[in-house]
Amino acid sequence: MKVTVIGSGYVGLVTAACLAEMGNHVVCLDVDERKIAMLQRSEMPIHEPGLNEVVERNAEAGRLQFTCDQAAATAHGTLQFIGVGTPPDEDGSADLQYVLAAARNIGRHMTDYKVVIDKSTVPVGTAAKVKAAIAEELASRGVTVDYAVVSNPEFLKEGSAVQDFMRPDRIVVGADDERATLLMRALYAPFIRNHDRLLVMDVPSAEFTKYAANCMLATRISFMNELSRLAERVGADIEQVRKGIGSDPRIGYHFLYAGTGYGGSCFPKDVKAMIRSAADEGIELQVLCAVEAANERQKSVLVDKVVSRFGADLSGRTFALWGLAFKPNTDDMREAPSRVIVSELLKRGAAVTAYDPVAADEARRVFGNQPGLSIVDSAVEAFAGADALLIVTEWKEFKSPDFDAIRSQMKQPVLFDGRNLYDPALMRSLGIEYSGVGREALPPPDRMDRITRAAGQT
Ligand SMILES: NC(=O)c1ccc[n+]([C@@H]2O[C@H](COP(=O)([O-])OP(=O)(O)OC[C@H]3O[C@@H](n4cnc5c(N)ncnc54)[C@H](O)[C@@H]3O)[C@@H](O)[C@H]2O)c1
Repeated sequence: MKVTVIGSGYVGLVTAACLAEMGNHVVCLDVDERKIAMLQRSEMPIHEPGLNEVVERNAEAGRLQFTCDQAAATAHGTLQFIGVGTPPDEDGSADLQYVLAAARNIGRHMTDYKVVIDKSTVPVGTAAKVKAAIAEELASRGVTVDYAVVSNPEFLKEGSAVQDFMRPDRIVVGADDERATLLMRALYAPFIRNHDRLLVMDVPSAEFTKYAANCMLATRISFMNELSRLAERVGADIEQVRKGIGSDPRIGYHFLYAGTGYGGSCFPKDVKAMIRSAADEGIELQVLCAVEAANERQKSVLVDKVVSRFGADLSGRTFALWGLAFKPNTDDMREAPSRVIVSELLKRGAAVTAYDPVAADEARRVFGNQPGLSIVDSAVEAFAGADALLIVTEWKEFKSPDFDAIRSQMKQPVLFDGRNLYDPALMRSLGIEYSGVGREALPPPDRMDRITRAAGQT
């Protein structure tokens, strides 16, 4: 099939590459000339495991092309995916300007039947706005061309986006047009060969489903983060509690990890947009308001621990940070907890030495030349001479580090583990002063000094 994908970000590029992989002829359009030039040279503008190979293979086979030419992109695909950003507007609602600009562009150039597919995460009612925007453009050209607008929200996860797209749990299609539905079924059939996982529903329900899914996941995270604060106080270990409740099939293990709060380009903005949509209808979504507030507070959990260990004035101290991306296997730092942690530490006069396996360039772009912050090229370089090490992102290479090096090369072996990667008992036995999230609180400094002296470690 002939497909156009508008937007070449995390969603657009993965969609375009994976559809080409199944034999479709795909043109991927973006307004960002730098991105398109990179993609035309088969260079990746983002880090996403396995994506490079799929893009390269399909570009070489002539099934995947990149362009900034809006007219050519509109002419190419019968199916026109809109996968552009929907960032939060000032009031928290989804900013639809990019989606509607893409729709208008289609209306400006189309000459034959198109199925316009909203793949961006958009609130209920957007398909109708897209339809109206296209209709206006057609009317101003004085032409009549048949088209349908379909909602097809995307559920891929950054870090495993290619795998998620190729083997989806489900594909949600909101459509009220039979011809468009048939085309969507045909397009996705190769991805769901072994059993049908395509859910066709009405358009508003499809749009709503995407927000409901992300809000549910965010709720689980905030719930565990809140409980972790209590667990720490009362002497329970949230990691053991997680296993205890996750083993219940009604609850399950996913998204129950306490940590430094959720970030990324989706959960924060989608929770906000859902709250805003409800407010527009005069409904207060109390659970989601609490989810958001709990998350904001959680982003400071490691800094709170640092302050209670070292005091509010951190000048003269150096803190090592492992992990800057909002989660492993991506270089995405949108709304990442690391941003709050770094700025809080710098504000209190500390120096920060940070390391991330892939997000270093993105971090340099995000932070610019902040005095006191250095982004280094290795995990060891980050902690050498530091007062404490903070684990912010659970990259694999942090899961089994050289604890001897940590103990011997830091100024003092103090570890704040925002991802609960290590066993507190093991840390104790290694003479590392350790504090996770929702488990065994760090003893006060004077008691810790006595413990480490008694263990023969300083
Ligand atoms: N990132 C994710 O994990 C994820 C997952 C599911 C859904 N989503 C949703 O998908 C949408 C896109 O997210 P993303 O992370 O890929 O965004 P992104 O910022 O990575 O990419 C968006 C791209 O669209 C381009 N663009 C903007 N306006 C354009 C226009 N008029 N014509 C052509 N290109 C245009 C931008 O230049 C950019 O390259 C959002 O609504 C998001 O909520 C994202």
